[in-house]
Amino acid sequence: MIPNFRQRCSSLVQTLKENNLGAAAFVPGPNFYFLTGLKFSLMERPTLMVLKDNGDILAIMPELEREMWSAVMHDATTFYWQDSDGFDKAFVELATELGATTIGIEGQRMRAFELNALQDVFGLGSIKDAQAILAKPRLIKSDYEVSLIQEAINISEISLSETLESVRIGMSEATIKAMLMQRMLANGADGFAFEIIVLTGGNAAKPHGIPGETRLVAGAPLLIDFGASYQGYSADITRTVFCENIKDEYAEIYEAVLSANIAGRNMAAPSVTCHELDLKVSNTLHNAGFEELTVHKTGHGLGLDIHEAPNVMLNNHTSLETGMLITIEPGLYRSNDIGVRIEDDVLITDDGCKSLTSFEREPLIVGK
Ligand code: GLY
Ligand code: MN
Repeated sequence: MIPNFRQRCSSLVQTLKENNLGAAAFVPGPNFYFLTGLKFSLMERPTLMVLKDNGDILAIMPELEREMWSAVMHDATTFYWQDSDGFDKAFVELATELGATTIGIEGQRMRAFELNALQDVFGLGSIKDAQAILAKPRLIKSDYEVSLIQEAINISEISLSETLESVRIGMSEATIKAMLMQRMLANGADGFAFEIIVLTGGNAAKPHGIPGETRLVAGAPLLIDFGASYQGYSADITRTVFCENIKDEYAEIYEAVLSANIAGRNMAAPSVTCHELDLKVSNTLHNAGFEELTVHKTGHGLGLDIHEAPNVMLNNHTSLETGMLITIEPGLYRSNDIGVRIEDDVLITDDGCKSLTSFEREPLIVGK
């Protein structure tokens, strides 16, 4: 089922009007893809799509992207520019065509040089960070989007299972990462949702550590945070397993994280706010006696972006709604010793939530 891109643009036009924005400008990335089905690189050449509050689409395109853009966006008013000429003229032409108006931009994606180029032609006060407003159409996932995310998850989980069967004591983080990447591609992934995290021993205490040459030893935790991407959509899963055995002290930390994960999945439902959900999950960790080992929020929205709205964190009073897709990923980290994170991808349903991830959550022993 091909998404109706026109309908997506029309729904966003409504949002622009409600927020007194005359237009929105997008650079390549999840919103651009959501609205057009087109993927361009976020490179040194400014590539910009503008949606006006009357539904018109304008664009600034590097000449070398003409064929891909024009094949799909034939109704757009497009200002192409050549490397040899530079892009200044295209921005002037865009401003002349669009006229004076307030333009919403993606504050977490647009870079300073694109913002400067817009401000030069529209004026400083005309540009407004509208990150949250522009993300709104992507908050509720359609059945089609959920099916793609489910496929990304299925590929990821099968690949993790196959990888863990082959993991042996003495293997390095980098080797295990390479094995997992190879399995994901073999199982049908288009690519990887993000740089895979495979960390063992004390390295696992760095939530976003880089896999290296540290090798798996008996009793060590092995934390794997990864996801396949499939037709633009991502999985984001973390499991922590143990090599050969698990000592009592680590089992206690693991049980606390698992309890927090379960508490989060039991509570996530329409009308619960992200703040309330985060509080429940964090309190479960804190009440187990591990407050000082808690370093990050409960989770985030997941879809075309790995981290998108809504953030499941304190002071985000957004209520969950049916069709939102979030991660629940409590973790505990003790420096130079251990890190445990258990992350599931959860779809909010009318009467609660459904975990799209189903990989074993009891502590697995590997490497035997
Ligand atoms: N994976 C933890 C975080 O990025 O919040
Ligand atoms: Mn995550």
